[in-house]
Amino acid sequence: MKLFFVFLLVLSLAPPLTLAQLKIGFYNKTCPSAESLVQKAVAAAFANNSGVAAGLIRMFFHDCFVRGCDASVLLDSTPGNQAEKDAPPNNPSLHGFEVIDAAKAAVEAACPGIVSCADVVAFAARDSASLSGNISYKIPSGRRDGRISNATEASQNLPSPLSNATRLVDAFAAKNLTADEMVTLSGAHSIGVSHCSSFRNRIYNFSSTTGVDPTLSAAYAALLQRACPFNTSSSGNTTVLLDLITPQTLDNAYYVGVRLSLVLFTSDAALLTTPELSAAVKHNAEHPGGWATKFARAMVKMGEIEVKTGTEGEIRKNCHVVNSVTAVPEEEGGTPPWVATM
Ligand code: HEM
Ligand SMILES: *[C@@H]1O[C@H](CO)[C@@H](O)[C@H](O)[C@H]1NC(C)=O
Ligand SMILES: *[C@@H]1O[C@H](CO)[C@@H](O)[C@H](O)[C@H]1NC(C)=O
Ligand SMILES: *[C@@H]1O[C@H](CO)[C@@H](O)[C@H](O)[C@H]1NC(C)=O
Ligand SMILES: *[C@@H]1O[C@H](CO)[C@@H](O)[C@H](O)[C@H]1NC(C)=O
Ligand SMILES: *[C@@H]1O[C@H](CO)[C@@H](O)[C@H](O)[C@H]1NC(C)=O
Ligand SMILES: *[C@@H]1O[C@H](CO)[C@@H](O)[C@H](O)[C@H]1NC(C)=O
Ligand SMILES: *[C@@H]1O[C@H](CO)[C@@H](O)[C@H](O)[C@H]1NC(C)=O
Ligand SMILES: *[C@@H]1O[C@H](CO)[C@@H](O)[C@H](O)[C@H]1NC(C)=O
Ligand SMILES: *[C@@H]1O[C@H](CO)[C@@H](O)[C@H](O)[C@H]1NC(C)=O
Repeated sequence: MKLFFVFLLVLSLAPPLTLAQLKIGFYNKTCPSAESLVQKAVAAAFANNSGVAAGLIRMFFHDCFVRGCDASVLLDSTPGNQAEKDAPPNNPSLHGFEVIDAAKAAVEAACPGIVSCADVVAFAARDSASLSGNISYKIPSGRRDGRISNATEASQNLPSPLSNATRLVDAFAAKNLTADEMVTLSGAHSIGVSHCSSFRNRIYNFSSTTGVDPTLSAAYAALLQRACPFNTSSSGNTTVLLDLITPQTLDNAYYVGVRLSLVLFTSDAALLTTPELSAAVKHNAEHPGGWATKFARAMVKMGEIEVKTGTEGEIRKNCHVVNSVTAVPEEEGGTPPWVATM
């Protein structure tokens, strides 16, 4: 009986087994201005160039799909290591890094060493959705920054625009996102631009029988061929709008475009190739408010992929580089006594 009581006492004193979790308002006490400082930096950049919203929403996706949302996408390549940002899915198309730098500088000035780069990316994507689509949501925070960024992993984890439906569903399932969430998040293609190389396969030499992908509107294909000449050296930097209907607004018009064969990528057109995905496209095309709500929820869920919390990872000082390893404390420094000096 007494033993049992002691056992219970020990159990109740043991630390909770639940892992640290992301929380809304994680910086309430430690850096109360964090979220508003990021919002100000994003709003200033957006006022100058509204294209940054698309860049920042895509950056969040590309961060979360590779080693989780840990700002690995922000690390620069080093002599021995090609970083994610220099992998083909990111270079040269991913942009908005200067906005993250400005936001991080603002939060470091207010509360040094507190706010992770990973959370800055998550806040910036949220603010971008609000600015470009009036889609507002709270995003839990408390992510910590990773110390590894590997270009090969970016190429392996980020879905290619050449993907068919199976590959798209699988790439999202690998990150615990459902097929419906994949369709919902693809609605981000209602803002921003693409380089010609990402859809070139659909407008030239598509197959042995037809030059243009028959699942792309012929009139639109002709327009795209004019924007993106066959000679790649003259169209390498050219970009084309993703959403013809409301190119600057984050809204459900993307799904209307999908149904009219007015979308750029094989992966966009793939959303009509299975009954399940096609039904989700139809539903989103017909329910703007419902899609916006689902989009906000899916962004929050994407923001939870493989996150580092608690004492995992670090709070990077400079989002471009990992922190230098903490110096050994004074009394333990120097040559250990057991190392013989010759
Ligand atoms: C479903 C699989 C997806 C594929 C295959 C895909 C592929 C692509 C490609 C190839 C581009 C154009 C890059 C370029 O050539 O400049 C692009 C742009 C973009 N993607 Fe996706 N994407 C997918 C899902 C997503 C998701 C989940 C999001 C965010 C929630 C997203 C947000 C964006 C945005 C905002 C742009 C425009 C970027 C800009 O203007 O710079 N995409 N995507
Ligand atoms: C931070 O404050 C907001 C608003 O008062 C509240 O909803 C949230 O739960 C708080 N978060 C934490 C971790 O204290
Ligand atoms: C404003 O946007 C342009 C691109 O449209 C960019 O080149 C420039 O650096 C931006 N200026 C500021 C202050 O952000
Ligand atoms: C933005 O959305 C809110 C509700 O979420 C609504 O009250 C407001 O009118 C919207 N603003 C614009 C400019 O559409
Ligand atoms: C990067 O990731 C790939 C694929 O997992 C792996 O083969 C490679 O060794 C990694 N590179 C480095 C430098 O760790
Ligand atoms: C989808 O693409 C993968 C790899 O590219 C291929 O193995 C598979 O057969 C394709 N599936 C369908 C249904 O076409
Ligand atoms: C997906 O969920 C399972 C079960 O909850 C978990 O073990 C796994 O780590 C998760 N994977 C990702 C990529 O979040
Ligand atoms: C590929 O497309 C270009 C431009 O339409 C055409 O000139 C060329 O003959 C095509 N090549 C093949 C192998 O079909
Ligand atoms: C492609 O364009 C470049 C410069 O725009 C030009 O020098 C080259 O001759 C062109 N090549 C072909 C095959 O037309
Ligand atoms: C594309 O942009 C890069 C960097 O701005 C530049 O060096 C290159 O010459 C450009 N290429 C073309 C074909 O305009």
